[in-house]
Amino acid sequence: MREEIVDIRVVQTAIIYPQTINQKILLQPEQRLEETVNLAAAINLKVNFCEIIRLRQIHPDAFFGKGMIDRFRDKAEKEGIELFIVDANLTPVQQRNLEKSLNLKVIDRTALILEIFGERAKTKEGVLQVELAHLTYQRSRLVRSWTHLERQRGGAGFLGGPGETQIELDRRLIDEKINKIKKALEKIRQTRGLQRTARKRVPYPIVALVGYTNAGKSTLFNQLTSANVFAKDLLFATLDTTMRRVKLPSGRDIILSDTVGFISDLPHELIAAFRATLEEVLEADIIIQVLDASSKELKQQRLDVLEVLHKLGLEKIEYQSNYLEVYNKIDLLSSFPSLSNKSINISALNGTGCEKLLQRVDEILDEGNQIIELTVSASNGRLLAWLYEHGKIISNRQNGENLILKICLSPVDQNRLKFLLKNQKN
Ligand code: GTP
Repeated sequence: MREEIVDIRVVQTAIIYPQTINQKILLQPEQRLEETVNLAAAINLKVNFCEIIRLRQIHPDAFFGKGMIDRFRDKAEKEGIELFIVDANLTPVQQRNLEKSLNLKVIDRTALILEIFGERAKTKEGVLQVELAHLTYQRSRLVRSWTHLERQRGGAGFLGGPGETQIELDRRLIDEKINKIKKALEKIRQTRGLQRTARKRVPYPIVALVGYTNAGKSTLFNQLTSANVFAKDLLFATLDTTMRRVKLPSGRDIILSDTVGFISDLPHELIAAFRATLEEVLEADIIIQVLDASSKELKQQRLDVLEVLHKLGLEKIEYQSNYLEVYNKIDLLSSFPSLSNKSINISALNGTGCEKLLQRVDEILDEGNQIIELTVSASNGRLLAWLYEHGKIISNRQNGENLILKICLSPVDQNRLKFLLKNQKN
């Protein structure tokens, strides 16, 4: 499997975003560069300089022209740069030639994102998907792409890729690994249904926060849990799902789950790896999309997130009663956008609207409440405690060894009760 990055010292880094004339622009160049700088910072790279370069043409041999490369080399030497990131997709040949001329380790955007995924993915499927993406990427680069420089630096550790030792592997070995991973992924897919059932036994409804990176999910998570969980201006601070218990205004508990942030312009070969890290969302009873209302890309980001959710199997999620949108960062705005009638405006930073959000979650959980009658053995303390905690007891009478309860339960808790009862029988 993938070797860990051993050396976690800070690496002096330069980032160049080459904007080409014919390029379809999804983000403004400045925003795109800022996103990439944040991505790099998230894995401990110290960005000493970054630059947007407007390119008339891409040079097939080294991506940039000779004059520009000379300038980069001088600057890199002066600044003590160890790693040079080109925020575009380089061919193996371009990467190799750039490395030779700059005498530096050079990586492209895909490699950078792979590093981040690799560092953060923790679920078994997430790790395997990242590994698969890494091997596929590496396989495409195998043809004499590993330079003397790289071999020399093999032990240095930073951005070691899927282990420098694998560099020496030939295609056949890599293919064997790819096949093995594919088989393992297939197995995980087959058992996933079972695992999901098991997770349903979590005693509280799960509410998942999803959204673009930097939308403010961690900040909201912290605001709602008032816990000290990682909120910093780093992308991917939350690639691993974080879960915390939160009390709603009604007194009911939920589990709030913070998920991996989306990123713009994700190389298509990384999409599966990314989705695998989002699997947790499928376990959620309620999904909240957090949006950065101050972003120029708001509309597109909302659609991107919805598209990924649809592809995960949550079709038409935006029309479901268990889906909510929160427009965050309203402290930065004078007028409020809304692209959905199920939205709440908040500022995760100062707490505006957060109480209302929790109330809304309460309401969603209450929708479709039902009163049911249940006979429970008086000695079944665990079940009774659960019922008292999750439902409103309407009446309670004793019948021999049993209690007959009339209890009001939300649909989510009705489902959970079914699992509990089934589980007790087994
Ligand atoms: P990832 O972990 O990368 O997915 O990002 P995230 O969505 O969890 O974003 P995070 O909470 O880390 O916030 C990103 C940046 O936005 C941080 O600098 C926050 O301080 C800032 N931020 C979050 N919420 C608000 C808000 O309501 N108002 C303002 N002004 N800034 C906010």
